[in-house]
Amino acid sequence: MFNRLQAKWKVNGWQLLLIIITFAIGGSLTGWLSRKLLNLTDIDHSWAYYLYYVVLVTLLWPPSVLLVSIPFGQFSFFKKYIKKILKRITGRRKDLKIAIFASGTGSNAQKIIDYFTAHSSAIKIGLIVCNKPNAGVLSIAEKEHIPTLLIDKKKFDHGNGYVEELKEAGIDFIVLAGFLWKIPPILINAYSNKIINIHPALLPKHGGKNMYGNRVHASVIAAGETESGITIHYVDEEYDHGSTIFQATCPVIKEDTSDTLAARVHALEHEHYPKVIEKCLKTIK
Ligand code: GRF
Repeated sequence: MFNRLQAKWKVNGWQLLLIIITFAIGGSLTGWLSRKLLNLTDIDHSWAYYLYYVVLVTLLWPPSVLLVSIPFGQFSFFKKYIKKILKRITGRRKDLKIAIFASGTGSNAQKIIDYFTAHSSAIKIGLIVCNKPNAGVLSIAEKEHIPTLLIDKKKFDHGNGYVEELKEAGIDFIVLAGFLWKIPPILINAYSNKIINIHPALLPKHGGKNMYGNRVHASVIAAGETESGITIHYVDEEYDHGSTIFQATCPVIKEDTSDTLAARVHALEHEHYPKVIEKCLKTIK
């Protein structure tokens, strides 16, 4: 249970302890204050007393825990927590949850996580989906306290495409960032127009099966291109094929190796992918 709370609230064990203490003291303070206030009135212990008590507890709980959270250094956690509760009570739309599918080092995944942590409290990275047990992106997920799902090829291609698991995790949108398996029709249909991919070149050139990593950049250089870049596109049943959402370019210079070109393209990816994801999320229902 404690591990689950740590993952849900993205806190370490020590912070979790401080949060629990704040809840306990804040709760007691709320009860004590409510009784004190009621005792100042002449309401006897009738139903009205308990009704007022519930109302007072509801009103006094947020300021009490916020106050107690200050000496425990948990003010910003409780500020966010109370905001979230208020959003729920006032019926504002639930958070949008993204699943990042990645099986590489995960530098894009890290940028996306950083961006949404800093820019939006209504968009969350709910899951990292990976097909390699030793992928770097899994360490990022662990560090960021994001749940992971390690997937199996047979089940992905010929089973349920992990649709149930994704729905169960409340995933609204899927972002591919270094994920090499073809997405099966069952998953494409379940998330129609809600799966996007980034490709490290200007599609439709230098894309398709086996065009990944430095092979893409080697192909760009071999073709004598003077320009490369990134393509962000919707995912359909063919590799690197769905409609283009965004492209950005960078020069290819004479001295480029696939490594130097990769670094330039990576910088473009990091700059644009999170912002494009945010724009796409604004268009989904
Ligand atoms: C990126 O270059 C992306 O374009 C491609 O896979 C790579 C993933 O890199 N689809 P990283 O693991 O995010 O660093």
